[in-house]
Amino acid sequence: MTAFNTTLKNDTFLRALLREPTEYTPVWLMRQAGRYLPEYRATRERAGSFLDLCKSTELATEVTLQPLERFPLDAAILFSDILTIPDAMGLGLYFAEGEGPKFERPLRDEAAIKALAVPDVGTELKYVTDAVSSIRKALDGRVPLIGFSGSPFTLACYMIEGGGSDTFSRVKTLMYDRPELLHHILAINAQTVTDYLNAQIEAGAQAVQIFDTWGGALAFGKYQEFSLAYMQRIIAGLTREKDGRRVPVIVFTKGGGLWLEEIAASGCDAVGLDWTVDLGDARRRIGDKVALQGNFDPNALFASPAAIEAEVARLLRAYGAGSGHVFNLGHGISQFTNPEHVTVLVDSLHQLSRPYHQ
Ligand code: CP3
Repeated sequence: MTAFNTTLKNDTFLRALLREPTEYTPVWLMRQAGRYLPEYRATRERAGSFLDLCKSTELATEVTLQPLERFPLDAAILFSDILTIPDAMGLGLYFAEGEGPKFERPLRDEAAIKALAVPDVGTELKYVTDAVSSIRKALDGRVPLIGFSGSPFTLACYMIEGGGSDTFSRVKTLMYDRPELLHHILAINAQTVTDYLNAQIEAGAQAVQIFDTWGGALAFGKYQEFSLAYMQRIIAGLTREKDGRRVPVIVFTKGGGLWLEEIAASGCDAVGLDWTVDLGDARRRIGDKVALQGNFDPNALFASPAAIEAEVARLLRAYGAGSGHVFNLGHGISQFTNPEHVTVLVDSLHQLSRPYHQ
């Protein structure tokens, strides 16, 4: 039973992910709802904290739609966070002012690791699926809604380190000393992510993205064993069709440029690219198997409108003619970005990309 409009007014994003013809290159931005928007900061203030904002169906819906009111984006992304999963596992997520995410009970010994279990997504993460349904209703078919999760390895980084890290020394120590313990965590994470993404799809997510933010920190061989293999396992367990449409899966490994062929063979529909790879080269390597998403340098948004437009034009030339490219940043938008520069990016892209789709 689906309680909302299943007819999309703009399905350009979904068609591009399946490499079907489109009229222009669609765009959304990682972290498109966030602190660079004054209206987001106002709603967050009202919510009290970031986590309260994520847990309020009404406010999470409101901030998801904020960037769409300002810019003609081609997709919405659920407002939530990747760290909802370890929080549901009982690790105690909190945000210390100016310090990013932290856990009260990180996985610091074997007993804690052995006690880790797959949470009941239907109850522990109901606030997320409630937000998905509410956002779908509010969108009323305007653009598709993207659901998301962190990758098992990226989640494990936060769960073991207890917060962000520059070195990942704890995770890597565990990986080299006690690989079976890290595999145990990753297997539990993979099962949880599978349940979580399927619940989001059931609630109305029309595409899903796996954020593997830290996979690129792994050594050759370790990436395949400790990150990619678990994403592959998740993809094999996902609902791939809903309401008569394919639900595309996007895999984004930041720093994964060396492993594009292997990522493209994971079963995903699209591969997210950071800004370190050449888009044309990526298309030659894997563009016959999957769609590509990215790879605008988020820091280029600090430059002048003319420079932003030139960079958009460069990426369009690099990809070349035809469908299969979803424009996006190579990582999340900075909180210090001028929203007017986002308007320049979206408008110039929509205009300049049309000749590539004739
Ligand atoms: O893209 C979107 O607009 C959807 C919302 C979204 C958020 N986080 C909201 C958020 C998404 C998709 C994420 C993913 C996420 N969260 C990732 C993977 C993508 C990436 O950026 O690498 C990671 C690693 C996290 C963990 C996380 N959450 C960190 C490291 C931080 C603090 C850093 C920061 O930017 O402040 C968060 C907090 C967070 N998640 C904010 C937002 C809007 C800022 C919270 C605030 O309002 O203070």
